[in-house]
Order: sequence, then C-alpha cells, then structure tokens
Amino acid sequence: MKSLRKVITLDEFIFQNEKDFPFATGELSGLLRDIGFAAKIVNREVNKAGLVDILGTTGINNTTGDEVKKLDMFANEQFISALQVSGECCGMASEENDDFVPITTEDSRNAKYVVTLDPLDGSSNIDVNVAIGTIFSIYRRQSFFGPCRLEDFLQRGSRQVAAGYIIYGSSTMMVYTTGNGVNGFTLDPSIGEFCLSHPNIKSPEKGKIYSVNQGNFLKFEQPVKEYITYCQSEDKLSNRPYSLRYIGSLVGDIHRNLMYGGIFMYPATRSAMQGKLRLLYECFPMAFIVEQSGGKAIDGTRRILDIDPIELHQRSPVFMGSNDMVDKVEEYMKSTMKVTQPTVAAVTA
Ligand code: AHG
Ligand code: MN
Ligand code: MN
Repeated sequence: MKSLRKVITLDEFIFQNEKDFPFATGELSGLLRDIGFAAKIVNREVNKAGLVDILGTTGINNTTGDEVKKLDMFANEQFISALQVSGECCGMASEENDDFVPITTEDSRNAKYVVTLDPLDGSSNIDVNVAIGTIFSIYRRQSFFGPCRLEDFLQRGSRQVAAGYIIYGSSTMMVYTTGNGVNGFTLDPSIGEFCLSHPNIKSPEKGKIYSVNQGNFLKFEQPVKEYITYCQSEDKLSNRPYSLRYIGSLVGDIHRNLMYGGIFMYPATRSAMQGKLRLLYECFPMAFIVEQSGGKAIDGTRRILDIDPIELHQRSPVFMGSNDMVDKVEEYMKSTMKVTQPTVAAVTA
C-alpha cells in the first residue's frame, strides 16, 4: 500500500517552528500568517484576471516610473490592509507607494516589525497569463516605539528577519525563509490552504540555465558581455552552452532557478547604471532566499545583503543563483575591474 504523508499546512508549520524558539512571542508567526492570508485573496483575483474588468492599465505611473496595472493596485491595497489589521507590524514600504506607510492604530504603532513589499511582481505578464508574484521582507524596527521612521526601512539586507515570495503560476506557491533554510507551500485550491510541498529547498550548486534580458546585450558592461558569451560557448566538461530562460517576472525566474539551478542577472546598462531592480523590494528578499537555499547573490562585486540602502526606492544591479555560476560572473567582473583600475605608478606619473 502507498504510504501516506501527513499534510502540513502553512499555519501549522509556522506554529511548529515558533515552538522551536523558546522566547518567540508569536508576533512574527502572526505576521507570516497574515501575509499568507492576503496572498490567497490576491490569488483569487489573479485567477480571474481574464474575466473581470481588472485588466488593463490605470494610466498612472508608480514611483520608479513603470506603468501600474490595476492588479498591482489591488495587490498593494490587499497586502497593506492585511498588515494594517495584523497588529504585528508598525509600518510598510511598498514599491507602489512614494513613501512608507506607518500604521498608527493603538494596536500597531508600537509593534516591533516593519514590512517591505513588491505587491505584484512581473506586472507586464498579467495580461498574457504568465507567472507573476508578490515579494516581501520583514525587519525588526530600529526605532524603539511610536510611529515607525525611515531608518526602520533603511536597513541592510542581512538584517532581514524573514523574506518570501508568492508565485501565482501553474500552481500558487508561497516560499519563505526565516533564516533557517527555505520552505515552499503549494496552495490546494480545494481546501484553500497552503500545504508544505517543498521542504528545505536547496538550490543546485551548479546550474545550466542563465536568465537575463539579452535584448540589452549591447548596453551591458564588457565583463557582463564576456560572461554571457562564456555561457553561450561550447564546453563539454562544464555542460555549456547553457540554456537561456527569461520570463520577465523576477519571482518566476528565481523560482525556476531555485528548483533547477541557474543564474539570474539584471546588470547595469549604459542608460541605467543601477540596473532596474529595487534593492528593498526585490534584491534583498530574493538574495536572502537564494543564500538560504545555498546560493549566492552579488551586485557584481559586493554581497547584496551587505549593501546599506540610502533610499526606499534605490535600485541595484544583481547577479544571483547557483554558487558556481555567480562565482564565475564575479571572476569576470573583478578581473576587468583590475585592468581598468589605474595603477599607483599611473596615478603618480
Ligand atoms: P515589477 O512588475 O514589480 O515592476 O517588476 C518587473 C521586474 C522583474 O519582475 C523582472 O525581472 C524585470 O522587471 C524585467 O524587466 P525587463 O522587462 O527590463 O527585462
Ligand atoms: Mn518587481
Ligand atoms: Mn511590482
């Protein structure tokens, strides 16, 4: 007879893990559960995106200049209201809002966590039925009490307490870490629960997939061009050429690479020296997850999680995924830097 495994729901899993920390107060667990709940509501809307008049653009641009789709707004509002009533969070910063949003109710103003959000990632894929997602990070506030402040959000990525994403794909999954490995939960629509389906996700050390918007090739810096050419060159020993896969939803590209191994890159271009992706809403949470699954995340030469942000909507170039592949691109970045860096003799001449 086939052996049956007990189904562990997201709520049960969070509760079990809380019991492993003797001083846990349950606040973080409550916050994660609230995020999971908001994700189910957003999932419901995403699934009927083709049926209702939620499709199409609002014609408004968000803070970083991208066109905002209606579903972005819906997801933003949904997560914000879930956090507002949660009581475990004193404020949030979202890609869709110019400034952070403090929660000043009696219950929440002294809560010890803040949340950063990319409520709808991959919004250009909404109308065409391609995977999209939500990305979140949780930090312990820096200020002691009262309404949250900017400094609570401008913390380096290594200070994240938890981070995760929800992928609305062929199935809907929530994947998250609290700094103790990465676990994935698949939504079973028949019972409306996220169930543990991918315990302790480990990204393969070596990958065979590279993901980058290759249309920008001519605008990339020389070492990035050379690394891409390396990915395309034939070599039996290292299984090259690698395959190119690019969805255009960070959540989708990272999720696939976590499962199969691979590298995701959004490098600087001539016109965007800081790349496109946002440090707080996209790079930090994904870097935390990638590292926790055994991978690596850099901006070219520095560890992403060691960057000190100076503004909410800051962007950063990013290279993340399987260790071996990120090491290789770093080698290219560093070797070219050495060549272009003026020597002492040249400077003093
Ligand atoms: P968002 O929809 O939150 O603005 O994010 C889109 C991002 C990211 O998901 C993806 O990796 C990247 O933009 C794709 O950008 P290009 O179209 O420039 O390749
Ligand atoms: Mn995004
Ligand atoms: Mn977004």
